[in-house]
Amino acid sequence: MTTPSLDLLFPAHIAELRSRTDRTLAAAGFDGVVFQSGEPLGLARDDQHYPYKAHPYFKWWAPLADAAGSLIHYRAGSRPRLIFFVATDFWYQPAALPAATWVDEFEVVIVHSHDEARAALPKDLSRTAWLGDPLPELGSYGLAAVNPDGLLRRLDYTRARKTPYEIECLAEANRIALRGHAAAADAFAHGGSEYDIHQAFVGACAQREQELPYNAIVALNEAGSVLHYQILQRQRPTRHRSLLIDAGATCRGYGSDITRSYAARDADSAFVALLAQMDQLQQQLCALVKPTVDWRDIHQAAVEKIASLLCSSGILRCSAEEALTSGTARLFFPHGIGHLLGLQVHDVGGVMADDRGGMIPKPPLDPALRLTRRLEPGFVVTMEPGLYFVDALLKPARSSHHAQRIDWDKIEALAPYGGIRIEDNLVVTESGVRNLTRESAAVA
Ligand code: GLY
Ligand code: MN
Ligand code: MN
Repeated sequence: MTTPSLDLLFPAHIAELRSRTDRTLAAAGFDGVVFQSGEPLGLARDDQHYPYKAHPYFKWWAPLADAAGSLIHYRAGSRPRLIFFVATDFWYQPAALPAATWVDEFEVVIVHSHDEARAALPKDLSRTAWLGDPLPELGSYGLAAVNPDGLLRRLDYTRARKTPYEIECLAEANRIALRGHAAAADAFAHGGSEYDIHQAFVGACAQREQELPYNAIVALNEAGSVLHYQILQRQRPTRHRSLLIDAGATCRGYGSDITRSYAARDADSAFVALLAQMDQLQQQLCALVKPTVDWRDIHQAAVEKIASLLCSSGILRCSAEEALTSGTARLFFPHGIGHLLGLQVHDVGGVMADDRGGMIPKPPLDPALRLTRRLEPGFVVTMEPGLYFVDALLKPARSSHHAQRIDWDKIEALAPYGGIRIEDNLVVTESGVRNLTRESAAVA
């Protein structure tokens, strides 16, 4: 979807945010709220800053990635006001308000200092909450509250349901990232290092690293077993066996989160077979996604399918039932099957029972699961089954009750391939599921 088409969806997005925020403010006991974009964070004893990232609540209202120091003031029932900060500076390029139609949804005030920003807010803020950095000068603003938990919780809960605008931003973030994934696959096929593959990814996405939703995970060979592997080796390995790349791109603050796993042309046939079976398994799990389904049941289905695959492939020498009840299967799949996705990669609100603060417990054996809610239309989730040979888990297993169920010769043959993860981004629709990743791959 082009930028003008996204702009066409923006007024309805703001209308929905206004109506949700009206209800939320009333329930939390406020009349208004200030969403702050955030201030650049300085390095210790230095005149530089960490890459600036706008606060998610601000980005929810305005697609401004580079507007540090700006505010959105929303008073229940009225038009939101964008208080846009333009620095008076000759060291850095001051922010500029984009010439886009989405800006028409706001009353815009340009300010050049914190004092001017304060003056652009109502004098009386005694029923207004501030969401953002707890700046020292807030003490003199007369605010009702700074980052009140009751308001944040309610907004977090409602953020799980994406508007059509948000879904199209996520679809575009998928299309951008898939260009990167294609280039990365090509760099792998040509024997590139992890660093080379990473550069191919960002180059094809045409995004700077600080624009990515998270640091890309580019893991060759055994490094694929490190779930959030953070090294980018410059050295090419002597042999390319496998690539696991978990990398996304952003569109208007919304991030994609996509993983693909590849086998080298001369890879062990057992690994190649596992890869194909994991891909099938992942698509079977995607087909389970629809409204009202409890995400914990999808996670359980994933653990069961992975246990069956471990047994049918001979990695485990026991029944699938025993692989599950003994906990041996979970040594190979130690993370959750997916999470909410949006302005944050692990988007907020995944374990909330309601908007007042209750929690839906995680399954006792799966503490890493980040989503426990029943699915609703408009949720965007990842589906990311994995199967890994994690040394830190398998080493202690050698001298535990797990040992007898594991074919250690197979582990030795497969461990140099690291692991497999296949991750797509899914929208829960009224009747089922829309796969933002595979639909884009099909037209790429
Ligand atoms: N990229 C992090 C994750 O898949 O959750
Ligand atoms: Mn991922
Ligand atoms: Mn993910």
